[in-house]
Amino acid sequence: MIPDLEHRCEHRRLLAAEFRRLPGRDRRLEGYADVMTDNGRTTSVWMATAAMRDEEPLTSNAHADVCIVGAGIAGLTTAYLLSKERKRVVVIDDGPSAGGETCRTTAHLVSAVDDRFYHLERLHGADGARLAAQSHAAAIDKIERIVQDENIDCDFTRLDGYLFVPPGDDVKQLDDELKAAHRAGLTDASRIERAPIPTFDTGPALRFPRQGQFHVLKYLRAVAAAATRDGARIHNGTHVDRIKGGKDARVETARGTVTADAIVVATNSPVNDLVAIHTKQAAYRTFVVGGRVKRDSIPQILLWDTPDPYHYVRLHRADGHDVLIVGGEDHKTGQANDANERFRRLQQWTRERFPNVESFDFQWSGQVMEPVDSLALIGRNPLDSDNVYIATGDSGNGMTHGTIAGMLLTDLIMGRENPWAALYDPSRKTLGATKEFLKENMNVAAQYADLVTPGEIDDVSQIGRGEGAILRRGLAKVAVYRDDNGALHERSAICTHLGCVVQWNSTERTWDCPCHGSRFQTDGHVVNGPAIQSLRD
Ligand SMILES: Cc1cc2nc3c(=O)[nH]c(=O)nc-3n(C[C@H](O)[C@H](O)[C@H](O)COP(=O)(O)OP(=O)(O)OC[C@H]3O[C@@H](n4cnc5c(N)ncnc54)[C@H](O)[C@@H]3O)c2cc1C
Ligand code: FES
Repeated sequence: MIPDLEHRCEHRRLLAAEFRRLPGRDRRLEGYADVMTDNGRTTSVWMATAAMRDEEPLTSNAHADVCIVGAGIAGLTTAYLLSKERKRVVVIDDGPSAGGETCRTTAHLVSAVDDRFYHLERLHGADGARLAAQSHAAAIDKIERIVQDENIDCDFTRLDGYLFVPPGDDVKQLDDELKAAHRAGLTDASRIERAPIPTFDTGPALRFPRQGQFHVLKYLRAVAAAATRDGARIHNGTHVDRIKGGKDARVETARGTVTADAIVVATNSPVNDLVAIHTKQAAYRTFVVGGRVKRDSIPQILLWDTPDPYHYVRLHRADGHDVLIVGGEDHKTGQANDANERFRRLQQWTRERFPNVESFDFQWSGQVMEPVDSLALIGRNPLDSDNVYIATGDSGNGMTHGTIAGMLLTDLIMGRENPWAALYDPSRKTLGATKEFLKENMNVAAQYADLVTPGEIDDVSQIGRGEGAILRRGLAKVAVYRDDNGALHERSAICTHLGCVVQWNSTERTWDCPCHGSRFQTDGHVVNGPAIQSLRD
């Protein structure tokens, strides 16, 4: 076996053994391929209650009409829709399908986008805000349609979403948002006195009908199976090392090369783009807790508040009880390492508002890419050949943005007009977002100061089992991890994307880059772009 693959298989086998012992793990899943990922240690409610099919790695060279890199919601939706158009599709992913951020989501399906319509109007004009609302609503419709067409049992539900202002925040923003939502076409949105939660008074809130929620892994398991039925080939466990567009477009891996007429890079953060896209978005880590509550003791709604970062709340119907899922407490990736404190604050926030939570069975974290102008970047890759496409910049709306990517990229590849193409064009310049652009990029520049600071420790003896730290050795910075058996693993701490110093994430046990969100396993293997190569020896 190729060493890289052998290593990853062994790593996943070890994690899988640990994963099966988790308290939240549904025993009925024994024997299924695990949606157990190597991009973190925490387990979402989806990972514990569903499993994806494990597909064979690529074994030889292949040719496709379209090669898709990344089998998250964006890649799999694109594969499904293109296969329906009779395109020959090959999907390559270096982990399990949906094992990236998709299995760490909370899966709210919203047309009430999280950056506010009055803000979108300022950045993209009234037409832009209208197209954004329309595209997200169409994405929920598309998911509903696929659920019906493929007869998917994935708990898809239409439900109302409520936006409220916590004490101390300006209530006027609700009025501004309601007017802007109406102008954007969400004319059934309304202002009400409080969201329908018996245990706490939200105060005035906006009600958005016809939002949605689902079990993302049950959905994507069926979408992947339908794409395969329609001719797509999905290969897991196959890391993509190089992507080249143009006449001889190709996706290169250690196990073979896929040549293609078009390439879609759906790796959440594009691994084929060095700079252009990564100045337009920033990586944030976000946190979630899941509390057990009595069945039907809380109404089935979506709930969001307005601060930045905001809280996002939904229910998941489990066996005999419900799980109240509450997220928030975001920080820039690699710029804090205090997840336990964030989980504690989320639990406290939840208990104060939902005192009927019996126990917290889940806590997990994941990463979102926040575009500086609030909308995803979907379309042709800037400064690249015309046949290379990307889907990124999902923000907290990646379920719908990923579905929009599937619809929009299918149209572009089929040579059809799409009314959303200009809005999501990755090459767009949004003048109104200059301040946010400068803020995020100055933050990145400041991270390079870490190249000249001392190490966090003076000696490896200071590192406990299961912990990691950065050590300075002469001019070099070294990422040192001590595993549970006491063995040390050392790699260069310099991120292979653009040279920032990675930081230890003790909850997920990964090395996270504070500049653009690349992430690496304890032994240096890359698990998240934009880096495409592992940390060096
Ligand atoms: C905690 C949390 C809560 C969220 N809540 C919501 C929500 O309620 N609603 C919502 O709409 N969105 C939400 N989001 C956002 C949403 O989950 C994500 O934006 C979405 O899942 C991203 O999907 P994706 O397909 O772009 O990326 P991913 O799912 O990350 O898929 C990318 C794939 O690319 C693969 N890959 C990467 N590099 C390579 C390589 N070099 N070679 C081969 N394969 C590679 C990875 O293995 C991965 O499987 C949330 C996100 C988080 C973390
Ligand atoms: S992700 Fe860009 S330097 Fe690390």
